[in-house]
Amino acid sequence: MTDPGPILDLIEAFRRSKTMFAAVNLGIFDGERPSGAAMDRLLEACWALGLLEKRGEEYMNAPVADEYLRRSSPRTLSGYIRYSNSALYPMWGHLEDAAIEGEPRWKQTFGSEGPIFAHFFKTDEARRDFLMGMHGVGRLSSPAVVEAFDLTHFHHMVDLGGATGHLAIAARARYPELKVTLFELPEVIEFARERVGDEVELVAGDFFTDALPEADLYAVGRILHDWSEDRIRGLLGRIHDSLPARGGLLIAERLLDEDRRGLVSTHMQSLNMLVCTEGRERTLGEYDSLLRAAGFAEVRGRVTGAPLDAVLATKP
Ligand SMILES: C[S@@+](CC[C@H](N)C(=O)[O-])C[C@H]1O[C@@H](n2cnc3c(N)ncnc32)[C@H](O)[C@@H]1O
Repeated sequence: MTDPGPILDLIEAFRRSKTMFAAVNLGIFDGERPSGAAMDRLLEACWALGLLEKRGEEYMNAPVADEYLRRSSPRTLSGYIRYSNSALYPMWGHLEDAAIEGEPRWKQTFGSEGPIFAHFFKTDEARRDFLMGMHGVGRLSSPAVVEAFDLTHFHHMVDLGGATGHLAIAARARYPELKVTLFELPEVIEFARERVGDEVELVAGDFFTDALPEADLYAVGRILHDWSEDRIRGLLGRIHDSLPARGGLLIAERLLDEDRRGLVSTHMQSLNMLVCTEGRERTLGEYDSLLRAAGFAEVRGRVTGAPLDAVLATKP
């Protein structure tokens, strides 16, 4: 008999995710201890998952939960978890329809229509959870992304759709001479201002329609995976037109293996993009084709080992 372990594990996987989502949402890792027999079961399950420890009758955060699940921790991933719980988890419930129709599931799940980021930013709380979600994962990746290539010869980087500025901050830390500008939708700029201080210039605008601030290096982190190929071609063309000769474009995305087999986490992200955006994840070869079609050359990719990989393309 073949070991059924992998199947049994996958049957249970969503229960484990949802247990952590519920505990984060109920404030368990912020010290909340709602009472009741059912609540005790949730606490025990978190203990079994290694998220809580027990001293006598008292539960306390395990170190990993204290660092990444407590909301006030500087490294918290609670924004991403809250947004996964409220938006992604219900939409993944319609994965079959997403696969059949190739369309995101906002209308089917929440009855809402309109542009993608209007869904993510539906309420102040939803926008905050989404942006803090980007921030939590971005902080784990951006130091590796700016380290992946030698960027010392660039003078001014504009991070397009830079959210809370984690990439801008990592770039300033690694290349103190580099001037850095963050370009974002107007509704995100104030949120970014609270996080980047005065080292990073902020410009409000729409990267599909407004003039891009002048730069010799643009960055797009988790932007290309949000959009259809037509939109990507338009955006890459605009970036290419705005760059001087030898200017660069730094991309932070997860790279699929060239044979498309792995990584599992990248395939999960690609399905995630299917349920909530117009986009998908790609191989370096696919990015290379899109970038060369837009006029770039010397496309190089690096698998960083962090949650996001890096691609650097140069304008001839
Ligand atoms: C998936 S998030 C990635 C954020 C950030 N680059 C990161 O990696 O954490 C996409 C970002 O693009 C921004 N964005 C979406 N459409 C935009 C547009 N038309 N112009 C400028 N920014 C946009 C959103 O506000 C959001 O912060």
